[in-house]
Parts: sequence; C-alpha cells; structure tokens
Amino acid sequence: MKSASLLFSRRGFLTAAGAVGAGIGLADGAGAVAAPTPPAAMPDPQRLFGLKHPPLDTVRIGMIGMGGRGLSLLGNLLDIDHVEIKAVCDVVPDRVRRAQERVLAKGQPDPAGYPGPETDFENLCRRDDVDLVYIATPWDWHVPMAVSAMKQGKHAAIEVPAAMTLAECWELVNTAEQTRRHCLMLENCCYGELELLVLRMTHQGVLGELNHGEAGYLHEARDYLLQGSMTDNWRRRFVSKLDGNLYPTHGLGPVALYLDINGGDRFDHLVSMSSRESALSERRNALPADDPRRRERFAGGDMNTTLLKTALGRTIMVQYSLVQSRPYSRINLIAGTRGTFADYPPRLHLDGQPDEWITHLQPYHDQYGHPLWKQLQDLARKSGGHGGMDYVMNWRLIHCLREGRPLDLTVYDAAAWSSIVPLSIESVSQKSAPVAVPDFTRGAWRNQPPGPLATA
Ligand SMILES: NC(=O)c1ccc[n+]([C@@H]2O[C@H](COP(=O)([O-])OP(=O)(O)OC[C@H]3O[C@@H](n4cnc5c(N)ncnc54)[C@H](O)[C@@H]3O)[C@@H](O)[C@H]2O)c1
Repeated sequence: MKSASLLFSRRGFLTAAGAVGAGIGLADGAGAVAAPTPPAAMPDPQRLFGLKHPPLDTVRIGMIGMGGRGLSLLGNLLDIDHVEIKAVCDVVPDRVRRAQERVLAKGQPDPAGYPGPETDFENLCRRDDVDLVYIATPWDWHVPMAVSAMKQGKHAAIEVPAAMTLAECWELVNTAEQTRRHCLMLENCCYGELELLVLRMTHQGVLGELNHGEAGYLHEARDYLLQGSMTDNWRRRFVSKLDGNLYPTHGLGPVALYLDINGGDRFDHLVSMSSRESALSERRNALPADDPRRRERFAGGDMNTTLLKTALGRTIMVQYSLVQSRPYSRINLIAGTRGTFADYPPRLHLDGQPDEWITHLQPYHDQYGHPLWKQLQDLARKSGGHGGMDYVMNWRLIHCLREGRPLDLTVYDAAAWSSIVPLSIESVSQKSAPVAVPDFTRGAWRNQPPGPLATA
C-alpha cells in the first residue's frame, strides 16, 4: 500500500515520520480509528489571531531561494517603497550574484550573499538587520527555513505550499506561537483582482448563504516536469513518489477566505481520489530510447480530486493536475443560496437574472471591487507578477508591517491549507477513506471574525 509515509524528508530520502507520526486520524463522523497525535506544545492560540508588532519604518528583508520565483518576488519588492533587501541566499552562487545585481541596479546597497552550503540560510537568519525572511525554495526546505527565521526573531513569509507533512504544519504553528512571529504563506492568488472582488461580494451577502466551493490547480506542465534529471528538477522528484494533491493552495486559498475558514468555520475532514497515471508516461515515452528518463515511474495520477467538508457542513471540491491536456484553471467557484460565481471564464449567476450567466462584470467591479485593487491597480499591472496579484500581495504585507497591523493570512491558514497535501495522500492510499483535518487553531476558529482582507 502506498501511504503518506512516502513523503520525502528534506534530505532527499523517504521517511514515515513526517506524516504518519504526525497523527492522521479518521473523522469522528466516519468511524474514527486514530486520534491525532498531540502537538508538542499547547499555548493559547488566541494570541496569534490579530498578532501585531510595533510598526517598522523600513522593512528589511532576507531572501532564501533566488530561482524563478525568488527573482520574481524580488522584482516586486524592489518596486515597493520602504523595503531594503539586506541579504540573499541560494545554493547556486550565480543566482546569488544575479539577485545582488538586481538589487544594485535599483540603487540599493549590495545585499550580503549566502551562496551555500545548503544550511547557509541559517547564517542569513542570524543577521541582526533583517526583519522578514522570504522563502522561495523547493517544498521540503520551507519549514526548516521558516523555523530557523522565527527562532532568530524574524517573521517568515513562505512560498506555497508552506509545508508537506502534518508534522511540518504543526511545527510552523508551534514555532510561530512560541516565538510570536508572523508566519504566513505567500498565497498570491488570494490577492487576484477577481478573487478579491468575489471575497467582498460574498461578505456583503450578494450570493446568499454559502454552502459549496470548487477550487483547483489545473496547469499542464508535462514538458516542464520532464526537463533535466530528477536531481535538477525537484518537482519531478515529488511527482514520481507521491499520489495526492501536491499543490492545493492556489485554488483553495481564495475559496477558504470566501468561507471564513479559521474565522468562523474550519476544514473538518476530506476524502480524496486519484485517477490512474498515463499522461506523463506517454510524454516520457516520446523521449529517445536511450534517455535515462525512460526508466522513470510516476506515482501521481493524472487527476486528483479531493472533497472537503467543513465543521459547518459546507463542501469544497479541490482538483489538481499538472499533466492533463486542458486549459489552465484554478476553477474558483463559490455557490450560495442566491447565486454562484464561477471563473475561467469569470461569470455570475444570480436569482432572478434573465440570463443564465452574467459575463459583463464591470458594474460589480464598480460596486464591490476591493479597495486594494482600486488603489494599486496601475502599480500592480506595471510591476506585474501573475497579472499584478503578486505585487498587491507583497505591497499589502509590507504595508501591514509598516503600520503595525495584523496580517491578512495567519500561520493557521498556512497549516490548514497546506495540510491538504499529506491528508489527500493519506486518503488516496486508503481507497479514499475519510481523513480528519487537524484543528490547528485548537478551537479558536469558533470565535474569530473574518480576516482583515474580507473587511478591508
Ligand atoms: N506563488 C506562485 O505563484 C509560485 C510560482 C512558482 C513557484 N512557487 C513556489 O516557489 C518555490 C520555488 O519555486 P521555483 O519555481 O522558484 O523553483 P526554482 O527551482 O526555480 O528555485 C528554487 C531555488 O531554491 C534554491 N535552493 C534549493 N535548496 C536551497 C537551500 N538549501 N538553500 C538555499 N537555496 C536553495 C535552488 O538553487 C533554486 O535556485 C516553490 O515552493 C514553489 O512552489 C510559487
């Protein structure tokens, strides 16, 4: 039987400790058989909701991982006032130099470089002139880097998914609570213009009472996955070993915000099912007969479908495929008692409307458009990053730190949204059995208002 024990450790070999030892249990309502393992520490989680720190005049940043994503984030950060890039780290020295040159070209002082070995990030985290550490490395490095940053008194901003095992999810929560640092996942799709529009519409009751959402990451990437060796191409390393939803948060994050997950509701349990695998092997079989990649096998099915049930009885479907021949989509659907918004293409159905779908959404942008996009759209489109959403996310993070405000996304969001990775793997390995989602807030979700992004 395949199981979550196949998850990679960050040293590149297989371990059971990350998932099974972290207490994956069946949902109570589905005949629970295993109680979640108690987390290492039990501090009062209320303390991290609304966490504030004294305002920072300038936000001083250290960045780890200067590959494709790190460089793109750096570009946005260099377009934001009151940001100083103090240090950059990557195990490939050329990438450190490239990042330093980008910073110099923007007129900032040369940032310190940390070109490896692979634990060199600890030296960056030890600096006394850094407030916030950005982490854009392969998935299995996120948590040790974020934990190191927080233990050194820095806030941690982690790329997606923040964690790959339940043990890692709890480690983020426990470390953030113990150190009282901000720890957020850089889920840029929560800051898309449409996602923020829908967030405001849902919170102003336009769709009625919400009962169902659909989310996904459907991004055909077969040639990309097959590039290079397994060592060079870290994504293929995961795809070849794990069967579940390995990249849930781009679609799920915005839907979780529509439904106030961790702010009045929470994920309770899930079931997950994967199709068989064919699409990547078929593409691999087109490689020359003597290519070593012809011997590789891929564990992940062509399509994973996960169904989540919330504590309040709502449902969310989350799909994931990097290999199906189909157009890009994050699905982004939310259905209520009086209407439904569906994306790709964006459209709205409301009770009493003459047309099945309203596709002219400008009046809704005018009425419900999010103030962040109204304020930032020109800068966002100029700086770029997925149509500007990356700029808006980065600007907002810096703005909140400069004003000493609570952040939009908490460590509980990072843990709950990322936990779909190990939990879907676990359910798939058990013929789609129901699996409980841990309550990373330890009960505090009940008394939380919707997050600041919904009410901004
Ligand atoms: N939010 C988004 O839209 C988005 C888009 C792309 C990637 N990502 C995420 O960003 C992260 C990075 O993805 P990428 O596409 O940039 O990958 P990448 O391979 O281009 O970059 C990763 C970088 O991390 C470096 N690295 C690896 N181990 C390291 C270590 N121990 N110390 C320092 N540096 C190390 C690598 O040398 C590489 O330069 C992933 O988590 C991915 O899921 C997010």
